[in-house]
Amino acid sequence: MTTIDDQPHDPDNAPTQPAETAALSMAPVAEPAPMPAVKTRYDGVAMLFHWVLAIAIIGTFSVGWYMADLPFSLTRLKLFNWHKWAGVTILALSALRLLWRLWHRPPADLPMPAWQKLGAHAVHWLLYAAFFAVPLSGWAYSSAAGFPIVWFGVLPLPDFVPKDKALAESLKQLHQLFAYGLGLLVLAHLGAVVKHVVLDRDGLLRRMLPGRA
Ligand code: HEM
Repeated sequence: MTTIDDQPHDPDNAPTQPAETAALSMAPVAEPAPMPAVKTRYDGVAMLFHWVLAIAIIGTFSVGWYMADLPFSLTRLKLFNWHKWAGVTILALSALRLLWRLWHRPPADLPMPAWQKLGAHAVHWLLYAAFFAVPLSGWAYSSAAGFPIVWFGVLPLPDFVPKDKALAESLKQLHQLFAYGLGLLVLAHLGAVVKHVVLDRDGLLRRMLPGRA
């Protein structure tokens, strides 16, 4: 019968002495490197930008739609000014939002077919493009029409196109085109969110809402 004493002696596998074992058990054990936390929702600043701009854009779009056909009056004049001031504010906030977005990664895509991921990214980036195209074309239209913008009545903004009636007419149409384009993108965006909430039930909306994970 083979006993342990009969085994060839291997110093590496030799049983350790009790004191040695105790010392080993007290030796500091290397901690595994911490796993980077998986981001499951947008950060607070991105959410703030999203909701402030969503409200501002829907409000400014609605005022623009309503005021366009009003007969000449003081109300129409006031609405035009507020519409322009809001547009310039949206432009400035969008610039800050874009910088924030480029420096802070959004959460990873939820599992969904590749074409849906592509569609979602395309709509998001086209929305970002519209955040600039709509107010900038409106600003240029106002300048070409000979109405320089004084932001909230205090800060005169430069005219970056000359006063020109024909140019003003073209810029008006461009501004409308961009605004309707933005409207369609928002409808596509809302349709996708509703699909995720009602059909997929995959928690997509929670990614843009504050609260616990
Ligand atoms: C009730 C209205 C709205 C809801 C419920 C909503 C919801 C959401 C949600 C859940 C996301 C995150 C999607 C994801 O996780 O992939 C998102 C992203 C986004 N939303 Fe909205 N949204 C609304 C209105 C708007 C409006 C009006 C705009 C613009 C005019 C807008 C522009 C965007 C953009 C650009 C993103 C991408 C954000 C980024 O990746 O930086 N949303 N929205």
